[in-house]
Amino acid sequence: MKITVLIENSVGVLIPMGLCGEHGLSLWIEHEGYKILFDTGQTGRVVENALRLGVNLKEADAIVLSHGHYDHTGGLKSVLEFIGKPIDIYAHKDVFSLHYASPIDRYIGIPFRKEELEGLGANFKWIKEHTEIFPNIWVSGEVPRKTTFEKMDERLYIKEDDKKLPDPILDDMSLFIKTNKGLVIILGCAHSGMVNIIEHAKDVTKENKIYGIIGGTHLEPASGKQIEETLVYLARQDFSILAANHCTGLKVASKFKEIFGNKFRFGATGEVITI
Ligand SMILES: [Fe+2]
Ligand SMILES: [Fe+2]
Repeated sequence: MKITVLIENSVGVLIPMGLCGEHGLSLWIEHEGYKILFDTGQTGRVVENALRLGVNLKEADAIVLSHGHYDHTGGLKSVLEFIGKPIDIYAHKDVFSLHYASPIDRYIGIPFRKEELEGLGANFKWIKEHTEIFPNIWVSGEVPRKTTFEKMDERLYIKEDDKKLPDPILDDMSLFIKTNKGLVIILGCAHSGMVNIIEHAKDVTKENKIYGIIGGTHLEPASGKQIEETLVYLARQDFSILAANHCTGLKVASKFKEIFGNKFRFGATGEVITI
């Protein structure tokens, strides 16, 4: 299994390939002959990064959208134009809900209409419950929110009939991949809570051994208590790779490094994780 970080907030300093970083996330996942594009970054720069990294986006068997935020879906139009043929896109229906962020009431949802994307070849496959999309590869579906310490980001809200409501981000989904070394969990922004997602992964796949966790953890804006409890939980898991990036933030990333040593690596743009 191979995971290539096509784009995220930073670029690995040892990779002089003219790669571009941006606030967002896009990962290329290859497992048992299947190729999946997980998220598309913010602007479409992911297309050029993929070329520079030797990844052919036209070979994707499917696209999976972790949620509707612009930094994960904004590259979708450019990606579809580049692929140039119909492709399945697994997403939760709320990927098109009106996601906003305070304090400046900024629209942070997907910047395209569904019909526009369908016109470019998007074949949306709506996911609500966990679904095995390819052998040993599941899209999480809605993640049960069970922990008491993982809180939704209070700055985020949705607009419904001009009313502001807290955004439950039900569209937040992850990928669970079963390998012979254990589970690999791919996070978008982990808005449902990283621990909730890991527990859900174990339930869905009936696999208790966590091998790797890769992607955004959304711990940057989390409370001290949430960060602490998450670290305690992770320390009890016998994982081998934690490649956090994007909304993890440098403060939490440093903590990961301090606690987990060589098991942690920052998943910057251009990083390739082979399992
Ligand atoms: Fe994000
Ligand atoms: Fe997000």
